[in-house]
Amino acid sequence: MALMLKNGDVNVSTSDQVERTSNGFQKHFGSVPDIIVRCPGRVNLIGEHTDYNDGFVLPIALPFETLIAASSSEDGQMKLISEGFGSAQFSLEDNPMGTSGWGRYIHGMGSLLVGPESGSLGWNGYISSSIPMGANLSSSAALEIAAGVVFKHLGALEITLTEIALVGQRVENEFIGVRSGIMDQIACALSQRGSALLLDCLTLQTSMISIPEDSAVVIMDTGTRRELRSSEYNKRRESCESAALDLGIPSLRNASIEDIANLSNQTLKRRARHVVSENDRVRKVVKAFSMGDSLTAGQLFSDSHLSLRDDYEVSGPALDRIVEVALGAPGCFGARMTGGGFAGSAVALVSRDKIHNFCGYVKTNFAAPKTQPAESSVMLYPVDAREGVSVL
Ligand code: GLA
Repeated sequence: MALMLKNGDVNVSTSDQVERTSNGFQKHFGSVPDIIVRCPGRVNLIGEHTDYNDGFVLPIALPFETLIAASSSEDGQMKLISEGFGSAQFSLEDNPMGTSGWGRYIHGMGSLLVGPESGSLGWNGYISSSIPMGANLSSSAALEIAAGVVFKHLGALEITLTEIALVGQRVENEFIGVRSGIMDQIACALSQRGSALLLDCLTLQTSMISIPEDSAVVIMDTGTRRELRSSEYNKRRESCESAALDLGIPSLRNASIEDIANLSNQTLKRRARHVVSENDRVRKVVKAFSMGDSLTAGQLFSDSHLSLRDDYEVSGPALDRIVEVALGAPGCFGARMTGGGFAGSAVALVSRDKIHNFCGYVKTNFAAPKTQPAESSVMLYPVDAREGVSVL
């Protein structure tokens, strides 16, 4: 069943964005682009902070997209213009660390995909995006994957979407300094319309999972943003690695709740308990979805939030508050923070026939706590699952 989105809730008008991006390219570079690539953001339904523990995740791709219109450049230079975020210029012969801001993601992709020896491969690009930034909806992964597909096509590279996703993860790890897992890039690259994507982060095996027809996914962007979340993120990953080392196993994927009792460090024990229980919740949500049981799936969302808040400690005052408000709203099956955490968005599973009441209730009753002021007003986005990256 198609989900009707209220005008203004989500910029779902891809055709407007395509025209704007194509026109932007023509205005700046004086010709029509050779290629336009679109890549969606993602929201994770469940399986949080499990990807870098070789675990399971269940994201969907969003109706928010990053578009790149591009043509090969004659001088081998990369010249990029972003609608609203300035420009970037570099050569792939240079080190990506010399490029700042969003340009580094593209520079990183180029340097890992084609290498400095292919310095003659450059392109002009015009970029637009409707993905809210800093909201834990993977605007950076969408930029990496879209750029990767431009490199693939303009450079005639023999490379799969999974390989592009792995390169995107390396860009985060090596050039951005976040030791993130593979979820965001795979979700942006491989999702399919109408399904959630179950990803086994060890084997990279994917399966498409239907969401029960009676329920809808609603993203709740608190409007809060947080810098420096990468240092906390990296610390959590180190804790998981230490826990696995103490248990003598390759990763927490291999641990059971009973094993975790053997950890003497109480913080490591709580971190590991989150990971192990969260992997279990992913499996249970998949089972509940397959049985059309939105109530059980929703309860698992809410349990996930408590585990992320209390054991993993990656929630924040605004995320806790919006989840609390959502749980009291009409039609809510369950809610949780989503993505890396600390600020940004939460996600709720909501009875489809109550979406508008739900959104109205949360909008009226949520205010960011004084301890964590918002940068913009709260936004509610009912979303349906879209397809991953494609060439238009
Ligand atoms: C960020 C990372 C992902 C994942 C999530 C938490 O989005 O980029 O790899 O670890 O946080 O689940």
